[in-house]
Amino acid sequence: MRVVRTLSEMREVRAALRGCVGFVPTMGYLHEGHLSLIRRARAECEVVVVSLFVNPAQFGPGEDYERYPRDEARDLALLEREAVDVAFVPTVEEMYPPGFSTWVEVTGPLAERLEGASRPGHLRGVATVVLKLFHLVQPHRAYFGEKDAQQLRIIRRMTSDLNLPIEIVACPIVREPDGLALSSRNVYLSPAEREHARALSRSLALARRLILEEGMREAAEVRRRLQEYLRAAPGVTLDYVSLAHPETLEEVERIEGPVLVLVAARVGSARLIDNALIP
Ligand code: PAF
Repeated sequence: MRVVRTLSEMREVRAALRGCVGFVPTMGYLHEGHLSLIRRARAECEVVVVSLFVNPAQFGPGEDYERYPRDEARDLALLEREAVDVAFVPTVEEMYPPGFSTWVEVTGPLAERLEGASRPGHLRGVATVVLKLFHLVQPHRAYFGEKDAQQLRIIRRMTSDLNLPIEIVACPIVREPDGLALSSRNVYLSPAEREHARALSRSLALARRLILEEGMREAAEVRRRLQEYLRAAPGVTLDYVSLAHPETLEEVERIEGPVLVLVAARVGSARLIDNALIP
């Protein structure tokens, strides 16, 4: 595996790559969720490039940029084990040199609600870094997890709007046996908080039951029941519950087809998100 740390080296290495290039952008501290994306890329592409970059531009003031978990040596060992061809580990200084002032912003309803409302600037930071990484790596396919449902849709929108010749591949959420969606931020949870965090995936199971088994059709009613459940859950501070159109992420009123249920909450010092597509 080649470890590339500068932008010029990445361009040089890319120019010599042949065949389909699959790219998995990550912020490191890899878990089974990331590994599932890498394995999918490995199965579908001749060359696999993975980036490890904790992107300061997608963290707001007071968020966890400084303490975001990092373990480069462990990440590189895992990538080596997955037979990754290139690990791209750029520096903040090179990605955002002094004077950096160009941003990529997806606008409109897709970006305004949910994470867009709760974390101002976050999605802009994601779109900007992903476009920069796409330019440097020039992949044919790029792999993203469905846990970050809004991020995935923002990146699809950007890729289409800016005519990038890249196929965006969505990969299913990987969960712990008790349902907790894998996230690098789970490391912030104490054992008690880890128990409390199960409420998020349980609220999605409740949505599934209300819609599929009880036949509830009024989105407001389902939303209210989930809010009630999460507000009563010990150790959980609810941010939002949304029943959204799976493509536009606009809030639905009546449930007449597939609906994406999204939840966000704080548990201890971790802000967690989860979602489920209810057919
Ligand atoms: O999902 C993530 O880990 C990040 O948002 C991404 C896509 C690597 C951009 O920094």
